[in-house]
Amino acid sequence: MSAGLLRNSFKGAASAAPFFPTLLDQMPNALVVFEAKSQLLVYVNPAAESALDLSRKSLEGQSVRDLFGDNPPLNLMIANVQLGQTSAQRQEMTLHSLPGSIHQESIPAHVVVAMFDDADLIMIEWFPIDQQLRSERDERVTQQVEANKELMRNLAHEIKNPLGGIRGAAQLLEFELPEKGLKEYTQVIIKESDRLQTLVDRLLAPHRKAHNMELFNVHEALERVRSLVLAEFPKGLRIIRNYDTSLPDVLGDREQLIQAVLNIAHNAAQALSDEIDKGTAQIELKTRVARSVTIAKQRYKMAMDLHVIDNGPGIPANIRERIFFPLVSGREGGSGLGLTLAQTFVQHHQGSIACDSRPGCTNFHIQIPYRKREKAS
Ligand SMILES: Nc1ncnc2c1ncn2[C@@H]1O[C@H](COP(=O)(O)OP(=O)(O)OP(=O)(O)O)[C@@H](O)[C@H]1O
Ligand SMILES: [Mg+2]
Repeated sequence: MSAGLLRNSFKGAASAAPFFPTLLDQMPNALVVFEAKSQLLVYVNPAAESALDLSRKSLEGQSVRDLFGDNPPLNLMIANVQLGQTSAQRQEMTLHSLPGSIHQESIPAHVVVAMFDDADLIMIEWFPIDQQLRSERDERVTQQVEANKELMRNLAHEIKNPLGGIRGAAQLLEFELPEKGLKEYTQVIIKESDRLQTLVDRLLAPHRKAHNMELFNVHEALERVRSLVLAEFPKGLRIIRNYDTSLPDVLGDREQLIQAVLNIAHNAAQALSDEIDKGTAQIELKTRVARSVTIAKQRYKMAMDLHVIDNGPGIPANIRERIFFPLVSGREGGSGLGLTLAQTFVQHHQGSIACDSRPGCTNFHIQIPYRKREKAS
């Protein structure tokens, strides 16, 4: 079945009907249409494609049950409109494990089921009700992270200044030392000062705004990330390309975005050590176009969707909520700055970064809106 069939079906209905698919294409809410008798999907709008993270082609022809599973409240709503007891029903309910959805968990949603008169077609439209709550929570977390970063930056400045002096004094002392054996101590001071210097520099790095704005092909950038990670983990790790090659070029600071994705992919490769030993380690780099997206209360017509998905053990539960905070690490020897930097770089592009993690599947999701050149900062 196809959108063409839907068009034909609509032709038999009301006079405005042939235009329905075009209109439905523009709806911001996810929406699917299926045939009442066969219960097979005949139409999926772009918002539903985005929400389900599956293409229209792969969805059309599936049954409603394939898509929503066995969901008694939804089945009842469908039966009610089908029996003509009401032409439309709306209800809040939980939609379970929509296949392929990036949010594999259940989502509370506002659901509308309606019958198209004459056309023997039923429509299901849904809107996640926790979106508002989620965006409020995200905003609170972002403010908290910002306050943390500010504190870290101030602290880093305070450390940076005397650090050069400490190192210099240790070097001078080393020249004056009568016994060679004592140099061991000055070397400790010098080495530790260097280590602190690197940390401080990384803490201060995100201060630099995205300034080299250029239009670039995101897949070329991802290929760089791919080869850098594979150079470091040459055996037992597969990096799968799942690219939407129709993606337009992105306007941004190429090096910053490469660094952001590299930090994420690098973490994934580090977390995959057991799987690398077994030869089953896998990282997927996936790109898609997202339409009608809201990031930090701004609405954009179009955005680039980028996922870095690994099949590792997942983010340790005790740090899951804080991974973007500076100096939070679950790794021996980790400085806990990789994700803070990644988030800052993405935010320089008005984008967002989020993570969904469970054992066997960790999904970092970056969204960068397409903006006009003059608005870039
Ligand atoms: N894909 C992943 N799978 C499992 N855990 C992860 C993943 N990505 C991040 N983490 C966890 O999040 C922590 C924070 O990552 P982050 O990159 O910010 O710091 P880090 O890797 O510890 O240090 P560095 O500053 O060297 O990057 C990691 O230490 C790790 O415990
Ligand atoms: Mg890291």
